[in-house]
Amino acid sequence: MKTIYLDYNATSPVRPQVSERIRPFVDEWFGNPSSLHTHGRKARAAVEAVRTSLLGMLGNTKGQLIFTSGGTEADNIALRGVAQAMRSKGDHLVVSAVEHHAVLHAAQALEEEGFRVTVVPADSEGVVNLQVFQEAITPKTCLISVMHANNEVGTIQPVEEIARMAHGHGVLFHTDAVQSFGKLPLDVLRIGADMVSISGHKLGGLKGSGALYLREGIRVKPLLRGGPHERNLRAGTEGVVGIVAMGVAAEMCLAERDSGSLDRIRRLRDHLEKGLRERLPDVELNGHPERRLPSTVNLSFVGCDGETLLMALDLVGICVSTGSACSSGSTEPSHVLGAMHLSPERIRGSIRFSLGWGTTEEEIEECLELIPPVIQRVRRVKRVGA
Ligand SMILES: Cc1ncc(COP(=O)(O)O)c(C=O)c1O
Repeated sequence: MKTIYLDYNATSPVRPQVSERIRPFVDEWFGNPSSLHTHGRKARAAVEAVRTSLLGMLGNTKGQLIFTSGGTEADNIALRGVAQAMRSKGDHLVVSAVEHHAVLHAAQALEEEGFRVTVVPADSEGVVNLQVFQEAITPKTCLISVMHANNEVGTIQPVEEIARMAHGHGVLFHTDAVQSFGKLPLDVLRIGADMVSISGHKLGGLKGSGALYLREGIRVKPLLRGGPHERNLRAGTEGVVGIVAMGVAAEMCLAERDSGSLDRIRRLRDHLEKGLRERLPDVELNGHPERRLPSTVNLSFVGCDGETLLMALDLVGICVSTGSACSSGSTEPSHVLGAMHLSPERIRGSIRFSLGWGTTEEEIEECLELIPPVIQRVRRVKRVGA
């Protein structure tokens, strides 16, 4: 069955050029980058070329880059690895309430180890409150972590202002740029980010690949114990194929961003959003109307249950995600939409559409034909059942 994939924030299909460029590292150059022979040296050269290239794309070739198993591990090293190394300076962290669980649960793990964590709220559009941030910082604060752009609603945070505030108090600033890298301008020196997390599979690379950028001089207590890989900061043989894939995918994302082809995605996103709101009553936008990722639109279809809607859309071949996650048989409302203080009904009816490099105009036109009758049917069934 042909599907229309609108779940790029969950993961992106692998770009054909990525599949092509990783082929030699699957078939021929399979060596361990720590080996000294030809196969090892070939793999090492590829890994180091991606490291240099990513540092350049992030805007600081003098920084450090640790390859990880993805955004989750990068966030964990940034919070747990760095906070533990800085414990003598302070034992307090500040994070926002709309962070991904990779950050929130890493912060929770630190709390279990005796750190104190302040969670700063967001407004109804998902933007964090700068004033509350300012008030949350204490002489014991060692680290602030605020994501660049939110994965559920796409809202972009004022990271430059937060970094400035953090540095004004001698506090390190980490940003989770898993959703924004390759889509928004991201210059670590201009933003003032001391640490940045990225993930390969959101760019059109492979799942299980990611990296943490660290400004030079930042100390890290490794989370994994083992060999001396990644300058003793992350033990384990580097995932060469995933790293090469991430490098190619990142290059392509940045080329798209800089050549204006993200405008095509923004236009398609806006067309979908406008079209659905024109065709259906009681549709609410979640997230900031302008300060938002160009590829993301999160809409609440009032009177619908998001999980039911997701399944009904899947039946007609449209793949999206909901603002609530089914766990252990119960539907958990999204912590992000909850932190934005949206009504339970609005959270229940929310659907995230996220577009990407493969999305076409024909697909969006087809969505505008297929989605409204599905919503109407789900609403009707819900009313009858109520
Ligand atoms: C904002 C954000 N941070 C972190 C992650 C985790 O990344 P990964 O799946 O590479 O572990 C995700 C994945 O959805 C994300 O959206």
